[in-house]
Amino acid sequence: MGLASLALAPIARAQTRPGWSPTGPLDGREPANPEDLSPEERRHVPVLMLPRAARAGRPFDFVAQVGVDPHGMAPAHHIEWVEVAVGDERVFVADLGPRVAYPIVRLSLVLTETVDVTVRAHCNLHGTWRTRRTVPVR
Ligand SMILES: [Fe+2]
Repeated sequence: MGLASLALAPIARAQTRPGWSPTGPLDGREPANPEDLSPEERRHVPVLMLPRAARAGRPFDFVAQVGVDPHGMAPAHHIEWVEVAVGDERVFVADLGPRVAYPIVRLSLVLTETVDVTVRAHCNLHGTWRTRRTVPVR
């Protein structure tokens, strides 16, 4: 494998990520009533584990799980990708598949000001789902 094929591999992968664009809108389905989720919503809505407030410039662990009850990862039905955006900037995309046991991602974020964090997740059968939360920064 030459240098050129190494450089092209991530691009080719991104082109096969269904429903994802590096520049498209940060949209997705949200629960009709967050206090009373349907069974489909319980399996698909991203659940964010965030601090009540972050300290400016200090890294913190950020965890997102797809589904209150984690979505299954069977070959015929699974989560294909999870994306994290800070404000309008995409900062993380994970390609998932049936070899990933649970649709859970963890990363360290550093924020400098209060901002909205958006997590989107794409199910191969049920489309793209979204959760957006404001993270206060002190
Ligand atoms: Fe699904």
